[in-house]
Amino acid sequence: MGGFQQPEMKISDVSLSEYGKASSIPSPVNRMMTDFAIGFRDEDDINLGVGYVNESTIPRQQILIACEAVLSNPQNYRAALNYGGAQGSPNLIESIKKFHIENRIGGITQDTFNARDIVIGANGATSLLESITHLLPAGIVFTADPMYYIYSNDLERKGFTVIAIPEDDQGLQTDLLMGKLKALGSRKASIQFFYVVTVNNPSCTILSNHRKRTLVKIATELSHEVGRKIPIFFDNAYTDLVHDSTVEPLESALCYDELGIVHEIGTLSKILAPGLRIGYLIGPKGAFLDSIIQRTSDIGFSAPLINQEIVSYLLDNGIEAQIEKVNNGYRQKAKQVKTWITELLGDNVEECRGGSAGFYYYLTLANITTDTNSDFFRFLTRTTGHEDIDGPSRNPHPKVIYIPGEYCVHPSGEMVDIGKRQFRISYGFEELPQIHAALKYMQSATTYSHEKLWSQ
Ligand SMILES: Cc1ncc(COP(=O)(O)O)c(C=O)c1O
Repeated sequence: MGGFQQPEMKISDVSLSEYGKASSIPSPVNRMMTDFAIGFRDEDDINLGVGYVNESTIPRQQILIACEAVLSNPQNYRAALNYGGAQGSPNLIESIKKFHIENRIGGITQDTFNARDIVIGANGATSLLESITHLLPAGIVFTADPMYYIYSNDLERKGFTVIAIPEDDQGLQTDLLMGKLKALGSRKASIQFFYVVTVNNPSCTILSNHRKRTLVKIATELSHEVGRKIPIFFDNAYTDLVHDSTVEPLESALCYDELGIVHEIGTLSKILAPGLRIGYLIGPKGAFLDSIIQRTSDIGFSAPLINQEIVSYLLDNGIEAQIEKVNNGYRQKAKQVKTWITELLGDNVEECRGGSAGFYYYLTLANITTDTNSDFFRFLTRTTGHEDIDGPSRNPHPKVIYIPGEYCVHPSGEMVDIGKRQFRISYGFEELPQIHAALKYMQSATTYSHEKLWSQ
């Protein structure tokens, strides 16, 4: 005894489900980020790839005050360190309602909640998105291209077929969507839902109110045509981070919903702290919302109640000032980074999206590829094989990481070719001096890429 294997019997490995098999292989972008994180040198290397918020936007002091207020007031915040109910803390649900009604997202009133409810996710907006994949049968999902690659990857591992429709500067192009729907013919019956990120990740393109309304109309008409409600989920992860005052005030898609198919997903990750893991869904009362609540119970009973109560307190006490502070910071960074992009990358940039909301820029280069095999990528990750560029192998020159467009566009969509010349950079996490340094390295990487191209 002592070994795991009996010599006389051949035992096969653990038998995995299809989803298990698909999940046993890390996604390419996860692999790339993990490789980069190994040996990451805080003082030298620059990470423009992560979607982390800026540390200085996290209201540490207010969180401390909120924690104290919650724990010292058990009348208001009952048993905050115990298990919570699966729908979420009643205090938090009330605070979110109030936050929306008192002007945050356009057009929502007390009446909006007559036939709708709010549910809190077990672990941020991500857990709600993930729950949807368990509660709706596999089938076709429409989204925008470039797409939120994390969720699209999850959907495809669960057996969904993601159809990504190219966006322009107004968001998902609804005329292209209508063309796709027509072409589907009888396959329309396998459409399960629409997933649209209102300030898109990776591009930070803001979905215009007009497009949003058209999308709801399309989903409504489609529901009538197939004789079944086809839900549309708007992911509002960044809607509180519109920092450009020239942008038209965003309307809530809930206000356009006549059939009871519109759901909005929000998160407190971007304006408070991702570590609190509080996300929520607003949608029509009924079987789907009930199933989300049961699913939350199944995967951990509820989000940690203490976090829910802390967030409830913070929403009730000074959230407007916090949002303003966060947006002032990102507005300033967005402007400065855009100036540097123009100054340093100049004519190499064919198109630059973002800068009005969230904290990403999504760039298309004119003649330079950005994928993980490209000279541009190799220069920035110091893997060209030339010591003058890479530096000594034991102590390479500073590395810079970004998210290549090849991971952001759908692999069987129309943007595959252009995606090879695109990339997302985040101005959220790193501070301005590091971002400036990174853009200077990118300038050198464009020169290197041109030289390599001409020498071929
Ligand atoms: C589009 C989008 N949805 C959802 C999330 C995750 O939200 P949460 O932290 O609440 O899970 C993110 C995070 O970057 C995101 O970009």
